[in-house]
Amino acid sequence: MKAIILSGGKGTRLRPLTYSGAKQLVPVANKPILFYCIENIARVGIKDIGIIISPETGQEIKDTVGDGSRWGVSIQYIMQDVPGGLAHAIKTARAFLADLSFVMYLGDNLIGSGIDKFVNEFNKNKPEALILLKEVDNPSQFGVADISKEGKVLQLIEKPETPPSNLALVGIYIFSPRIHDAIDIIKPSKRGELEITDAIQELINMGCNVESFVLDMWWLDTGKKDDMLTANATVLDEWLKGNINGNVDNTSRLLGRVAIGKGSIIRDSTIRGPVVIGENTMIESSFIGPHTSIGDNVRIIKSSVEHSVIMNESELRNIERLEESLIGRRVKIVENRATYKALRLMLGDDSVVEV
Ligand code: G1P
Repeated sequence: MKAIILSGGKGTRLRPLTYSGAKQLVPVANKPILFYCIENIARVGIKDIGIIISPETGQEIKDTVGDGSRWGVSIQYIMQDVPGGLAHAIKTARAFLADLSFVMYLGDNLIGSGIDKFVNEFNKNKPEALILLKEVDNPSQFGVADISKEGKVLQLIEKPETPPSNLALVGIYIFSPRIHDAIDIIKPSKRGELEITDAIQELINMGCNVESFVLDMWWLDTGKKDDMLTANATVLDEWLKGNINGNVDNTSRLLGRVAIGKGSIIRDSTIRGPVVIGENTMIESSFIGPHTSIGDNVRIIKSSVEHSVIMNESELRNIERLEESLIGRRVKIVENRATYKALRLMLGDDSVVEV
């Protein structure tokens, strides 16, 4: 069995962060989302992974991920020249996939477990496709499944206006090579893409066995700011291990689970976990509240931060209270010390500031 991870797309809902980087590399608890996908695939013993990249962000993905040796797998990169949809991505990877079964993982999807159970189930029952479903409040934004009482998949529709159920298709699928025949039959959707949802529907029409699993653990599609913050909080809550490699002075207090990377210095501050802090970061006379991830080479001085993600090389000075914020790399937020109050901003396109 092989695996492909889809790591293209423009990430429009995460702008401006995605003007300068791939959405799959935005960190969750200081680790790119894409790394969680690779780990999950490596853990089930799959050795050959193809990462589908786009011309816009492909190089950055290659530079960050490398050849896979750090996970004990081999990674090949497959260029999808146009954003033609998920089924089109499989078409692009046809030669790599050969005639093997494969896992398809969307590089911005995070689930609260490994994929062992699903891969085992697929290998045991040998359906043509195994899909994962999750109950959601907003099914119209996803592919939606209608299933019978016995769990048989009756129908799949991509982003329906009137959803037949609240069961969304999670972006992790396992296919036999029959999926290629189905992809050859389908036509582009309204949004002009070859939809994987339509291809799986085609498998059902062909009389193939499509198995489904309804997830009971969390699933996060990290496409938007609030989803990212939820993903960050959830991963810190569930997976963070306390680990102090930096230097914490004796006027500082660490409460709960806190991880601090090498070369970081904490002075005269309180850090209330779960919190992860990267390497060579300086926190001084500040409060860092729960569910916060702070990257490498960050400086936070006389400030208070909670439920936020602060990426590498950013700086906060004299900021009374920052919360629910997603701050990119090399961002400066500093108090303006003029005698009159004014906001002085230099923001990239699509920035959002709430004051
Ligand atoms: C894609 C699929 C959709 C699925 C979703 C999961 O949507 O088309 O069926 O529910 O991923 O993340 P997209 O991200 O292309 O809007």
